Parts: sequence; structure tokens; C-alpha cells
Amino acid sequence: MSESKIYPVPPAIAATAHINQARYQQLYQQSVKDPDGFWAEQAQEFVTWFQPWTRVLDYNYGPDEVYIRWFEGGKLNVAYNCLDRHLEKRGDQVAIVWESDDPNVDRRLTYRELHTEVCKLANVLKSRGVNKGDRVCIYMPMIPEAAVAMLACARIGAVHSVVFGGFSPDSLRDRILDSDCRVLITADEGVRGGRHVPLKKNADHAMAECPDVTTCLVVKRTGNAVEWRDGRDIWYHDAMAGASDQCAAEPMDAEDPLFILYTSGSTGKPKGVLHTTGGYLVFAAMTHRYSFDYQDGEMYWCTADVGWVTGHTYIVYGPLANGAKSLMFEGIPNYPDMSRFWQVVDKHQVNIFYTAPTAIRALMRAGEAPVKQTSRASLRILGSVGEPINPEAWEWYYHVVGDGRCPIADTWWQTETGGHLITPLPGATPLKPGSATQPFFGVVPALVDATDGTPIAGAGEGALVITRPWPGQMRTVYGDHQRFIDTYFKQYPGYYFSGDGARRDNDGDYWITGRIDDVLNVSGHRLGTAEIESALVLHSAVAEAAVVGYPHDIKGQGIYAYVTVMAGITQTDELKRELVQLVRNEIGAIATVDIIQWAPSLPKTRSGKIMRRILRKIAANEISTLGDTSTLADPTVVEELIAHRANQ
Ligand code: PRX
Repeated sequence: MSESKIYPVPPAIAATAHINQARYQQLYQQSVKDPDGFWAEQAQEFVTWFQPWTRVLDYNYGPDEVYIRWFEGGKLNVAYNCLDRHLEKRGDQVAIVWESDDPNVDRRLTYRELHTEVCKLANVLKSRGVNKGDRVCIYMPMIPEAAVAMLACARIGAVHSVVFGGFSPDSLRDRILDSDCRVLITADEGVRGGRHVPLKKNADHAMAECPDVTTCLVVKRTGNAVEWRDGRDIWYHDAMAGASDQCAAEPMDAEDPLFILYTSGSTGKPKGVLHTTGGYLVFAAMTHRYSFDYQDGEMYWCTADVGWVTGHTYIVYGPLANGAKSLMFEGIPNYPDMSRFWQVVDKHQVNIFYTAPTAIRALMRAGEAPVKQTSRASLRILGSVGEPINPEAWEWYYHVVGDGRCPIADTWWQTETGGHLITPLPGATPLKPGSATQPFFGVVPALVDATDGTPIAGAGEGALVITRPWPGQMRTVYGDHQRFIDTYFKQYPGYYFSGDGARRDNDGDYWITGRIDDVLNVSGHRLGTAEIESALVLHSAVAEAAVVGYPHDIKGQGIYAYVTVMAGITQTDELKRELVQLVRNEIGAIATVDIIQWAPSLPKTRSGKIMRRILRKIAANEISTLGDTSTLADPTVVEELIAHRANQ
């Protein structure tokens, strides 16, 4: 196994880091030898508890029964930890710096101001009948009110379900209905790259089929006209004007739900990943501080959207729990021009910058000039998340963006994991371009043979599983605990299965190879092939569809759809366009099908199962390594598909 280039820890970073190499070894050992003792210490250090827990961890990893409980008996409030406890020392320090889509507009909220807003909104929610345990849907652009909404829910013990603002009305409707949200918080419009996103209009479409939504709070972002239903729709600013700024933080049990976040799996509809209060917050705060070596007073910028887990843990909860300065960006990397990210870095003197490989690759295409026209001297640490970062993009990020000074934290994790599981720590871990390197404290990863589940020792490649719980782990699929067990604990009994494959090298460093289930990763966004297929077959001209991913220069993976039309239907480019639009309407613009290939029929086994392995090979143009096709019911189907493979 060839070892790649190694970048040692820069001595200047190690000298001041929270965690250096020796400390990592020592703490990691403690975290696996005495997990209860270790996590009790961390929970004390990172979180303020109203009441201590009685038991650190109680769990069962199945196969039949699965439960995970951290810090049982402990009481705390997440909003209190993110706001109130900071007021004395840093009430006037900035908590959120908001950089709008327009480079001339920004806004700062101190911890005190944020606290006031959160208390007021919490009172507004209460006045609209929201009680502890009720679900509230948040469908917002990247504006500070999105964070205010999340924290207001946390303050009163309501469970938020943030739906990414790029999702379609149908996706929003499904999520509102699945978790029975009665209150929706949105904005008139969002603004991205100079364009307006019709959030309220989308919400209206969704709410038309959600009769139980009794309140829709609307933040005025652009002021353009929107439709209004009196009684249900309320302007956020009107409601806030009359609200008291006094609201006690509800004492929550450590295992009370904090939020639901929907994510795609290999089958069926997206599932509501449920995170709870105590363990999640401990893990969010701790990973934020250590993975990025966050030092008090630093400006930290995570470019994710709050609609994804990265925004939850690393824009809102982790940074605010640590009293950090968190930058929130409304715009996109290439507006008004390709230099925007680096201009924002200079403007706000960003020290820690965390983004996705897809953005790096897109910016890399524009060459070095847009980067080099900025200083970026404030940068100290870089981060990467969402998909494997290819070594070429890693080197560019390191040398061009970071001027060879800034360690890159390639953080591997998932919606389900709540926070980083495998990541280098800037002051402790030598870096290898493309490797997520070493496990975080308390995380015990393992590789098992993907086919028979046999554990793999030493260097090797297999399915990536985790052997024991960590505090940020999801607790269930909302409303469907059996699906939680079946998805994560059935295939490899005794382990949590991530759905990813990985390689471990001779140094014990992990290299994530990507999903080994039917989940696509398009520009760092997770999409289930089943969801896209369900959307395609809604069209009356479509008999059957099979969707796979294929390698894409910028997006990481592109979406390749094989479509079989009904008898008598003509296969036209117009129909292709309709199908692309249909999927966008059903799911959202992130689900834009890149390539459609007409398929007279699909390769199936004799029992009727579609052989996706073959479809993936054809889409990737790896025809010479198709593998065994002898189990196909009709091998000529494959020849036909290869002969008419779509040009990419
Ligand atoms: O395949 C892995 C990939 O993203 C998946 C999780 O997606 P999601 O739940 O949407 O969360 C994204 C943000 C954490 C994983 O199963 N992934 C995420 N980070 C990395 C990664 N793959 C390789 N390297 C990473 N650093």
C-alpha cells in the first residue's frame, strides 16, 4: 500500500494548540480505556448542567434492541449553554457575524443581543401554543434569524426540524407531515448570488397540504410581495415587537430530543435523524474546539447552510457553546466574483475556515489569481467536510489558499454522528492529502469485510463501522425506531454501520472511499437513488428508472439516470428536459439529473433485482471491468446500454 506525502504538524501550531501529539495519545487512550471517566470529565468541562447525571452511558447495540443513553438524569438547556452562561464574561462580544449576499451589507449580533432575540422568539412561540416536545419546522435562508429560531426552540424544549431552503415545496410538505410540525418559521424570500428564492411561496404550496400548521412566522428579508393568510401568517417583526425579552431556559433531560434533521438513505423517503440534548452538546462543543483548535477570540467561519447538519453543529451549537465568533454567510462562493470567499476572510479577519471539497474544486478551476489578490494572512486553520477530498484539491487548498501555513482538518462524519468522528487535530496529527486520518476521542472505528462482516485487522479496506457509542450519536429515526435498527445495526451485528467504505493504511490512518450503499453524494449533498427514481416514475411516460452516481469533476458525483419509457412513447430531448424538471420540482435543485440515458430495459437478475453495480460501471465508463454478468436474466441488455451510453 503506497503511502502518500506527509505534512508534519507545524511547530507554531503545536506550541499553542489545545491538543498536541502527546496529549492526543494520552487522552485517546484514556477515552477508550475508561470511557465513562473520560466523558464525565468532558461533560463537566464543556457544558453547564442544572443537575448532574446519574449514569454516563447505558447502551445496547442490537441486533434486536438498540438504545443509546448518555448522561441520564442530567438536566441542562442548550440555549442556556450557548447564550446565558456567556453573558457575564462576553455579553458584548460578537456571537454571530452575518455577511449578506451583497458584499456591502453585514451585521453583527453580540451574545447579549442574540440572547434577547432568542428570549423574545421563545415567548412568541409559547404564545402560539408551542410546548416542550412540540416540533417546529424552520425553512429559512442563511440569516441570523435562522439561528435565533433554532435556539428559541431549544430554550423552551421544542424540537426543531430545519429544512434546507433549497428543498422543494413537496420535500418541505413531507418533512412537516412526518414530524407533525404545527408551526413553520420562514422568510418572504432568500437571497443567493443576486437571485431571490421564493421561500414563502414554496411554504404556501407545502402548507396547502399541511392543514395542521396553525402558525407561519415570516421574516421580512427582501420585502417583496407575498401571499398572506390572516390568522396563520404572522410577520416575525410584528410578533417580536410585542414580545417580552424575559424567558427562563427550560431544564431539559439529557436525553430529551433537541432536533430532527431529515437525511437520505438507500431506501424509501428521507428519514428524520433524531438528536438529543446532553450528549450532542458535549460532542458539538468538544469537537468544535479540538478539531479546529479554536482559541478564544478567534473568528471562525463554516460556509455550510444551517439546513444541513454541518450548519447545526458547526455554525450554531458547537461555536456558540464555546463562546466563539461564528460567521454566517448568506451568499455563494462565486458571487459577485470568484474571489468572494477570500474577500470575506480578509474583511472579517477569519482565522478558521471550514468548507466543502466541491467548493474548493470549483474555485480551483478559476486559477490562483482570485485567491492571490487577497491577503488571507488571518487564516490559521482550514477544514474540509462533506465528501472525500481528492489529493489535488487538498494540495491546492493547502498551498494556494493557506499559503502552506494552515493545517487542514479533513473531518469525516455524518448527519447521524452529530459531530466529527475521524479527523486530524491541527496541533497533533501529521496530515496526508486525502486522508481523514485518526479517530476523535472516544471513537473506535473498525473495518469489516463488506460481504461477510469479518473484522479486518491492520491495513486493509472494508465497510466502515463504529464499535461503541459516542455522545453525539443519533438516538432514533423519528417515529420509526425499527428503521433505525434496520439501517444501522442489522448488516454488521454489534456495530454502527456508517454506509461508507474506507481504507486503513499502515499508520492506522483512515481514507474514506465513499458510500457503499445506494446513497449519492452530489456536491457534498446526500441523495438517495430511490428518491430520485420515485420522482422519475411519477411521469406518465416513464415505465421504470434506475439512478446511479458517476464521477464528476466538480460535484464529486453526478446523477446518471437510466429511464425506460412506456410503450409507444417517443424518446425526445424535450422529454428529458421534462424529467429533469420533474425531479427538481419534487426534491429541489440539488437533485438535478446530469445525464439521462434511454434504456430499452434494465439489467436484472433472474429474480428481478436491478444490477446497479453494472449500471454504475457503464455510467463511469468502466466497461472493461463490468465483472460477472452471468447472473443476468438477459445479458444482451447490457450490450445495448453500452452501445448507447450517453456522452458526458
Ligand atoms: O460519505 C460520507 C460523506 O458524507 C456522508 C454524510 O453525509 P451527511 O450526512 O449529509 O453529512 C455531511 C456532513 C457531515 C458520509 O457518509 N463525508 C462527509 N465528510 C466526509 C465524507 N467523506 C469523506 N471525507 C469526509 N471528510
